[in-house]
Order: sequence, then C-alpha cells, then structure tokens
Amino acid sequence: MTTQSNTRGFTSNIGAILAAAGGAVGLGNIWRFPYTLGNNGGGAFLLVYVFFVLLIGIPLMMTEFIIGRRSQKDPIGAYRTLAPKHKGWMLIGIFNILGALLIYAFYSVVAGWTLNYVVLSCGNQLGGCDSATIAQKFAEFTQGSFWPLFYQFLFLVLTAAVVFMGVQKGIEKMSKILMPALFILLILMCVRSLTLGDGVRNGLNFLFKPDFSKIDGHCLLSALGQSFFSLSIGMGAMVTYGSYIRKEDKLFNSSLWIAGCDSLVAILAGVVIFPAVFAFGMSPAAGPELVYIVLPNVFNSMPGGAIFAVVFFLLLTIAALTSTISLLEILVATLVEEFHWKRSVAAVVSSLVVFTVGAFCTLSFGPLKDVQIHGFTIFDLFDRLTASYLMPIGALAMTIFLGWFFPKAEVRDELSNGGTLKVKAFDVYYFILRYVAPIALIIILVSGLIGK
Ligand code: TRP
Repeated sequence: MTTQSNTRGFTSNIGAILAAAGGAVGLGNIWRFPYTLGNNGGGAFLLVYVFFVLLIGIPLMMTEFIIGRRSQKDPIGAYRTLAPKHKGWMLIGIFNILGALLIYAFYSVVAGWTLNYVVLSCGNQLGGCDSATIAQKFAEFTQGSFWPLFYQFLFLVLTAAVVFMGVQKGIEKMSKILMPALFILLILMCVRSLTLGDGVRNGLNFLFKPDFSKIDGHCLLSALGQSFFSLSIGMGAMVTYGSYIRKEDKLFNSSLWIAGCDSLVAILAGVVIFPAVFAFGMSPAAGPELVYIVLPNVFNSMPGGAIFAVVFFLLLTIAALTSTISLLEILVATLVEEFHWKRSVAAVVSSLVVFTVGAFCTLSFGPLKDVQIHGFTIFDLFDRLTASYLMPIGALAMTIFLGWFFPKAEVRDELSNGGTLKVKAFDVYYFILRYVAPIALIIILVSGLIGK
C-alpha cells in the first residue's frame, strides 16, 4: 500500500496545495459565488459566507484530509478502513459518490458554456454587441440542444483524458502555472472594473456593505451551501485528495492556504463583476447567467478587450477543468480501488453516466424548460439539492463519524503527523468538529427546510 500511495500521491506540499486549490477554485468562485451573492442581497451574504468558511469550512476541510490521509483510500474505502467493524459508515462514502455524480452532472453544463465562450471570443463574436444582444445570444445558445450538449460532452472528454493520463503529474504541473495566471488576470480585470466610473460605488457597496435585514434562514443556508460548494466539502473530494497528501505535510496549514486562495478568488470575482453589473445597468440577481452576460460587456468596453475575453474564458475553462478533474477523480478512485476497474475504463464509464444524467440538466434550459420539480428546473434542482442539502448532510455525517465515533487520539495523531507537530489549535478544532459544526449544520438544515 505504501509504495502504491507514493506513486499515486502528490510529490510535494506545494503540489498538493495547488492541486487541491485547483479543485476548490473553479466555477463555484467565479460563476456561482457572484450570482448567489446577487440573489441573496449582497454584503450581508459575503459576511455570513466568510464567517462560515472560517468557522466550519476550514475545520471540515481538515476533517476530510484527516479521513483521507489516515485511511489512504477513496471515500468508500476510507470509512471501511477506519471503521472495519461498523460497515454502516460506508454509507457516507456511497452518499458522497452519488453527490459527486450529481454535482458533476450540472457542473459540466456550465463548464461546457465556458468552452463555448472560448470559441465565441476567439472569433470575437460578442465584440461590439450591446447588452441586449449579448443576453440574447446567451439565451439562444443555452436554450438550444445540440451545441450545449456538444460542449458539455467535449468538456467531459477533456476531463476524462486528463484523469486517464494520470492526474497527479498533469494536475500538479498544470496547477502551478495556471492558477497564478488566473489570479493575475483577475487582478487586471479588477483594475478595469474599478475604473468603469458610474456604478463602481454602487457595485462595491452592494458587495461589501452588509444590510443585516437580509440575513434570514435562506441566506444562511445559501451561504453555507456556497462555502461548501466552493471549498469542495462534504462530497469526498478532499478525502480523495487527502489520501494523496504526503504524510509529512501539514494538514492544518494546507487547509488554511487552500481556503484562503479560494475565498480570495471568489471576492476578486465579486469585485470584477458587481461594479460592472451596476455600470451596465443590470440586475445583480440575474441568476446563473450573470457572468456570461456581464463580462462580455466589460470586455467590449476595454482596450484589447477581445484578447482579454479569450484569455479569461480560457482560464475559466481551465479553472473549471481542475475542478471537474477532482470530481471525476472521486468516482474513478472509488471504481479503481473498490471494484478494481482499470483507470481508463473507470474514467470512460463514469463520464458516460455523468453525461447521461447531465444531458437532462443541459436540456432543462431549452426543451425541458417546463419540467419543474417543486418549482425548480432540473438544473436548479441539482444545484440547490447538492449545495444546500447533500453537502451539508454529507458533512454532518462526517463530523459525527470523526468527532463522536473515531478515537480522539487517532485524530490528534493524524493532524500532528504522528506527534511530530505541535498542533496548538487542536482543542479548538476538536470542539468545532464535535459541537459547533454539527449543531450549526443541523440548525441551518432545519431552518432552510422550514423556510421553504
Ligand atoms: N469547488 C469547486 C468550485 O468551486 C467545485 C467542486 C469541485 C466540487 N469538486 C467538488 C464541489 C467536489 C463539491 C465537491 O468550482
């Protein structure tokens, strides 16, 4: 097992951090965060969001890493290994796998849009268009059948190819170049957005000035769901990556770095988008299309915008790709380790299953628009169901396992690398794991259900 884990694992601490940050930073930050914040009244949401990242997100990321690294296994194998006499805990792993599949199904729709925008911006097809035309083109594209399915499929193929070729080396190397590049581009875009004149003040006020009356059960649930989604928590992603982290790396520090990068990218995306939203007289509550409609307007208003557009959507594609890789890796690692499938077969079969389910999400913007379940389209249902319910429930089960079932001494041993590190905040972490996180999760899940 040890030799195997050496060859399959990350080769350095920075590589592990960047790969996990690559998995965390994705469409969740640049696409989902701004529109969720827009739908939930702005600054108050940001405040609650950051609070949840610090209080629950980071400790839970550590928890996933501990489970993964301790067991050296995929999410299902992890619970079997850590609780050999109590097979019931494996249900958490199974729940994780199903959740990851649902996330990947709808995530790949948006990833496909991004790819389409790379192609559109390469041909400068949105250049010179006014807001209304940009919005109309977006609607025409997403409401179609063939092209959105085509791009979704293409994205699944790209992801499968990388996972098949060996994620670790590809991802570690790619992340080291592409994540900093994405970051620099975001900063440049911030500069442009902040110099748009009209709207900047309103945009920044919207993002940073909390209106506390906006905080209700729905806002709390959305913020918690968003923090989980963005940090890739509650679905076994970090358990899988945790099993690839070297025994000598520091799980606490790594978690801080990953969560820090992730939140910073989300906030920068907000700084890019909201001034532009107000400058172009759009509604911050436009929903999932926010980024795809607002940003092309920004590009059109800046010198060299056509080039920025290409690079930006390319980098967004890559950010999405490092995330879809982490999603596919959950499924593939499980099929390979639990069922002894070949990596290539596992990657192809999982991707086909995801495409079959994901096609319904894609078509729910067009032909299946009228299929509504509890007032949600299929896409919205997947999105809400996973982020607001499955991830918090998965996380709750995980905290009960590690906090109440698994021996405390072993948790401390894993976090302190066998006692070689002084983990000063261990008691704080353990208190959050045992009490704060589960209680907060229960309250928020219940209030979200009642508020509906
Ligand atoms: N965190 C990613 C994002 O923000 C999405 C993601 C990747 C994810 N892997 C995950 C979400 C696993 C939940 C579970 O875009």
